[in-house]
Amino acid sequence: SSSPIYIETASAPTNIATIKYWGKADAKWNTPINDSVSVTLDQADLKAVTTAAASLSFEKDRLWLNGVEEEGAAENKRFRACVDGVMALATDKVDPKTGEVLVKKEDWKKMHVHISSYNTFPTAAGLASSAAGYAALVAAMMFLVGAKEEYPGQFSTIARQGSGSACRSLYGGFVAWRKGGDKPDWSDSMAQQVADENHWPEIRAVIMVVSDEKKDTSSTSGMSTSVATSELLKHRAANVVSKRMEAIEKAFLAKDFESFGQLTMADSNQFHATCLDTYPPIFYMNDVSKSIIRILHAYNAWAGELRSAYTYDAGPNAVIFTLDKYVVEVGALMLHYYPEFGENYISNPEFGTKIKEFK
Ligand code: PMV
Repeated sequence: SSSPIYIETASAPTNIATIKYWGKADAKWNTPINDSVSVTLDQADLKAVTTAAASLSFEKDRLWLNGVEEEGAAENKRFRACVDGVMALATDKVDPKTGEVLVKKEDWKKMHVHISSYNTFPTAAGLASSAAGYAALVAAMMFLVGAKEEYPGQFSTIARQGSGSACRSLYGGFVAWRKGGDKPDWSDSMAQQVADENHWPEIRAVIMVVSDEKKDTSSTSGMSTSVATSELLKHRAANVVSKRMEAIEKAFLAKDFESFGQLTMADSNQFHATCLDTYPPIFYMNDVSKSIIRILHAYNAWAGELRSAYTYDAGPNAVIFTLDKYVVEVGALMLHYYPEFGENYISNPEFGTKIKEFK
């Protein structure tokens, strides 16, 4: 048919939590039992790039991931929440030259969408590929339909319904996810930038791809078993996380790497302890992950100061935070112990928290 096709592309980075989200308060709204905070990574190596197209000539909504069509994706609840959530905030599309209205805001909903997304890193290996993926989906849809927020942070409440951690990938720098819950529709469960990407330009993230296999327990199923069975998780949510949130936000703002690193490692360790405290237990770290932990503690002890801090998400891959002046040292140390990582080992000297939110 002769209906026009409208098309936009956006990219979004991944993020690495230093205080972890683990446990849902409300499965329907995809909201957490505790606040969390993360560093948004540079888009040089780890990002999702998503193209969204809309047309009256499309017969149904379709989705491709890394070039392969996902059958039935349009009925997926997360996909629907993101696409319909942004569609609800659409505005008129106006021809910039003539001022003519090309698409009335209410007409976007009559069109179907075709979405194509690429990841530049291992999917589902605990490198928060879903965070970048849903953030890029929301961003591409935002651009496509010229969406406008009704209140600050609203886009992040939409990305959150795709994947919890995705809400934090909409902003650069150091980003908190405030759990919310004062509003019945959880419209206050949203991301908030604590410091932007220019605040602490010396911080670096070195990523060790220990394994690029798909993780065995998805975060959704892991969380629900942990919520049902772990006493440690209850203790963590009630007594630990809010203190740590306050302390780590202060440390990041003060560029206090010692405190930032200690809190990051302690929270990674407590998250994985919670996984072990889950019944049946969940193991995300493998022996290589654990050996990296030992080496980094030995390195910090040798240096007489904290120069490196590890954190692990729902998979065996290590993210090592360090400062620009130690990144070569940390890189050399890792290469010495893990020469076999070769190609998988990502340590870009430019790598940091400098984020282009959406290109
Ligand atoms: O956003 P999800 O559902 O993939 O869960 C992310 C969970 C962790 O990565 C382990 C922690 C976090 O806060 O990102």
